[in-house]
This record gives sequence, structure tokens and C-alpha cells, in this order.
Amino acid sequence: MEMDTKQKFDGYAAQYDEWFMKNDKLFTSELRLFLKVLGDIRGKRLLSVGCGSGLFESYIDCSGVEGIEPSRDMGEIAVKRGVNVIKFGLIEDVDLPDDSYDIIYFNGSSSYIEDLAPVYGKCRKALKEGGRLMLLDVPKESAFGFMYLLGKALGTYDHEYLADAMPSLPYPLALASSGVWHSTEEKINVLKELGFAKFSYYQTLVKNPLYTNEEAEEVIPGYKSGGYVAIIAEK
Ligand SMILES: C[S@@+](CC[C@H](N)C(=O)[O-])C[C@H]1O[C@@H](n2cnc3c(N)ncnc32)[C@H](O)[C@@H]1O
Repeated sequence: MEMDTKQKFDGYAAQYDEWFMKNDKLFTSELRLFLKVLGDIRGKRLLSVGCGSGLFESYIDCSGVEGIEPSRDMGEIAVKRGVNVIKFGLIEDVDLPDDSYDIIYFNGSSSYIEDLAPVYGKCRKALKEGGRLMLLDVPKESAFGFMYLLGKALGTYDHEYLADAMPSLPYPLALASSGVWHSTEEKINVLKELGFAKFSYYQTLVKNPLYTNEEAEEVIPGYKSGGYVAIIAEK
């Protein structure tokens, strides 16, 4: 079924890509994390849930990458970038084939999904044995998470409490405000309850947001310091 209701990212496709292009060092840090966790994808079947405009996928060979994206504005750009968008819709509304994917990943999309358990459960079923679910996000507990939640609560970033503490080009307030911003441990607990037992974690954007775009950062193991964190859970 085609989507015709307005989605959170409708109307923001150009602004979203532009924001990353202007924050190029931040983007490079996140891209490094994305490339690190995906690893060698040759011959693998992948699903990108909330593939957006396919910006990150444009840096990999995405011939084996399928996408699901509710925002038509975003998804149409992803198609042009070579992602095989199998559904313009929400992950909640998609039927996925059982035991079929090597990798299913959510790059920033869990932060726009309220109820994670049914969605991750559906993805677990769709993974092959030994397949991996990868969740890359801004953690609620990170400096970025606090900044977005404060912006959301205040309805602006332009507030005396935030004076001199904000990066010059913060993530669009509308997109920060429509985010759900889960903590990393909340997601780990959901995954454990679904039966995932083997985990690894990587992170980047360890500097405070004010300085994040000064230079690209390396990927480091763990999840307790980063402003962008990847959870990898194996089926
Ligand atoms: C922060 S953007 C990330 C886009 C892309 N993955 C990237 O990294 O550039 C979050 C994306 O998740 C999508 N999204 C939001 N809710 C979703 C849902 N329930 N199912 C699938 N995608 C969703 C949004 O439309 C948006 O494109």
C-alpha cells in the first residue's frame, strides 16, 4: 500500500542531507562508524530500515541493500542513489520474509520509533541464523541526546540557557523534536528480551557537540561516551 499520510521527514529531505554536508566532519565520523559496523558486505543481503535519502548507502556498493522508508521525499532520493526501496512505508506495516537477511540495520531510525520490541522482534525473525541486527543512534543519555531533548522541551535552541554551548549548525529542531531518543541500555534490554545474547558496541562523536565538527573522530569500542553509538546483536 502506498503511503499518503505526512511522515516526520517529509519536507526535510534536502535540509537533512544539507545539514550533514555542512557538518562534514561530524558526517565523516558517523560514516566511519557505519562502515566499521557493516564490514565486508560483498555477497550479503542487507535491509536498511528507515534508509532515508540513502546518504550513507551512497558510500557503499548498495546493490545488495534493500530499504524501507516512510517518507517519500527521502526514499525517492535513496532510489536514485541505488537503494532497492522495497516499501515506502513504516517498518511496523511491512511483512518480512523469515530467515532471509545477513544484516538488518537502523541507522538513526530507532530514534523515531516509539515501540521498539515488536519492530526488532520482526527483524530478528527475518535474520538468518548468525545474522546481525545493527542499531546506530544518538543515545538519549549523550550530550547530543540532552541537547535535542532540551531543544524539544524549550521549543527552541535559541535560549539563554544554551548560549555559547550550541554548535553553530545544530540538527534541525523539528527533527530533534519529533525524535523519541531512546537510551542505549533501553535498546539492549529490548534485544535481550527478544533472545539476542551476543553483542558488540562501537561509538564515535565523543567530543562535546560544540567541538564535534572541528575534526573527524575515530571509531572506538564501547557505548558509554559516544554521541553516536552502534549496537551489534547477533542472532
Ligand atoms: C535520522 S533519519 C536516518 C535516515 C538514514 N538512515 C540516514 O542515516 O541518513 C531517520 C529515518 O527513519 C525513518 N523512519 C521513521 N520512522 C520509521 C518507521 N516507523 N519505520 C521505518 N522508517 C522510519 C524516517 O523517515 C527517516 O528517514
